[in-house]
Amino acid sequence: MFDQTPIEKFGQMATPFYYYDMELLGRTLDTLVSLASKYDIDVHYAVKANVERRILETVAGRGLGADCVSGNEVLMALRCGFPAEKTVFAGVGKSDKEIYAALTAGIEAFNCESLHEICVINEMAGACGLRARVAVRINPNIDAHTHKYVTTGLFENKFGIASHEFDALVDLLGRCHNIDFTGLHFHIGSQIVEVSDVFGLEAARVREIVTWFEDKGLKVDNVDFGGGLGVDYEAPDVNPVPSFEDWMQALDKGFPRRPGQRLHIEPGRSVVAQCGSLISRVLFVKSGETKTFLILDAGMNDLIRPALYGAYHKIENLSAIGRDDEEGLQSYDVVGPVCESSDVWGQGRLLPVSERGDLVAIRSAGAYGQVMASRYNLRDFAPAVFSDALDEAPRLIDYLKIR
Ligand SMILES: Cc1ncc(COP(=O)(O)O)c(C=O)c1O
Repeated sequence: MFDQTPIEKFGQMATPFYYYDMELLGRTLDTLVSLASKYDIDVHYAVKANVERRILETVAGRGLGADCVSGNEVLMALRCGFPAEKTVFAGVGKSDKEIYAALTAGIEAFNCESLHEICVINEMAGACGLRARVAVRINPNIDAHTHKYVTTGLFENKFGIASHEFDALVDLLGRCHNIDFTGLHFHIGSQIVEVSDVFGLEAARVREIVTWFEDKGLKVDNVDFGGGLGVDYEAPDVNPVPSFEDWMQALDKGFPRRPGQRLHIEPGRSVVAQCGSLISRVLFVKSGETKTFLILDAGMNDLIRPALYGAYHKIENLSAIGRDDEEGLQSYDVVGPVCESSDVWGQGRLLPVSERGDLVAIRSAGAYGQVMASRYNLRDFAPAVFSDALDEAPRLIDYLKIR
C-alpha cells in the first residue's frame, strides 16, 4: 500500500488524517461481488463500519444493499445511493422517530430484536396506513470465539430473540396484521477468524432454527447470517482482501437452501478495514525511565479500538522507508497525545529509529475507526483523504494558518 514514495505522497499534508486506498476498496468489492454471484448470496454492507460519503457511494455503486443500525444510518445510506428496497434496519433499541423514518422511506425490512419492538412497528404501520416488512433477529447462542465486546450471539448478549420466546413469536406474528414476515436474521459477532469452524457451526444451528419455524408454518424465505468475517490486522499487505470465499463456502455448505430461499450476509469490517490507514506524525521522542515513547499526533479520539478492545494495529514509519538506517530497529511504546494512559497504539513495537516529523501509518483502520472518532480533549476530527483525490487533502501550510 505504501511502497511508492509515501513522503512525496503525504509530505506536505496536515496530520492526522484517514487515508483510503480506493483501488484496494475497488478490488475488495470486485472479489466480494463476484463470489456473491457464484454462491448466489445477497450482500448488504454494514454501514456502521464506515459512513464516509465516498465509501458509501462506491459500495452502493457495486449494487450492494445497506445494513443499518440507526435511523440516521438509514437516511445516510439512502442519500448515498442505496435503494430503499435494499436497505435493512437492525438494532435492539429503535426509537419511534427512527421507526417512522424507515417505515415511510419504504425500507426492505426491519430486523426486529424483541417481541415488544414487533408490536410497536405493527402499530405504527397501521397508524400510517402502511405495511412493514419484518425479519426477526434470533439469538442462536453461538460462541464466535472473538473479543468479548464484539460477541453478539450468546444468551448473555442483549441481541436477538431467545428460544424461550419462539412460540410467543409465532403467535404474535400471526396477530400482526400490518406486518409481512420476511425471514430470520442472525449476527454472532465480529472479527471472526476461525472462519470455517465458527460459521459452519452457525450455519448448522441456523438450519435447526429455520426448520423449527417452518414446521410451525412460518415460511422463512430469507436467512440473513449477519457479518463478522475477520481481517488480518497483523499482515495487511499479505492479506489485503479477506477470505470471503471461505465464509460463503461455510454458509453455503452448512445451510442447504430449499427452493425459493435466499441467503444474505452483512459484511462491514471485511469490506473497508484494509483500505484505510490513519496517517500521523511523530511529535516527540521521549526517553522514559524504562522505555522510549514515540508520541504521535493521532490519539484514541481518532481511533479508539486499541484503547477500547486492546486491539492490535500494525504501525509503520513511512518516513523511514528507504532510509539508510531502516534495518536498525528500536523498541518504542507508541502513544497518542490524549490525556489518558490508555491512549497507546502499541507497546514495545520494533520500528526503525524514528524522529520528530516522521510520518507514521496505523494500518487496517478503515473499519470502526473514523466512525467512532470523538472530539475528546476538544481535538479536531481527522479528515478523510482518498487516494484518487489527494489534492483535496489539507496541507500543512493551510493547517498552520488556521491554527
Ligand atoms: C447486525 C449487524 N450486522 C453486521 C455487522 C457487521 O459486522 P462486521 O463488521 O464484523 O462484518 C454488525 C456489526 O457488529 C451488526 O451489528
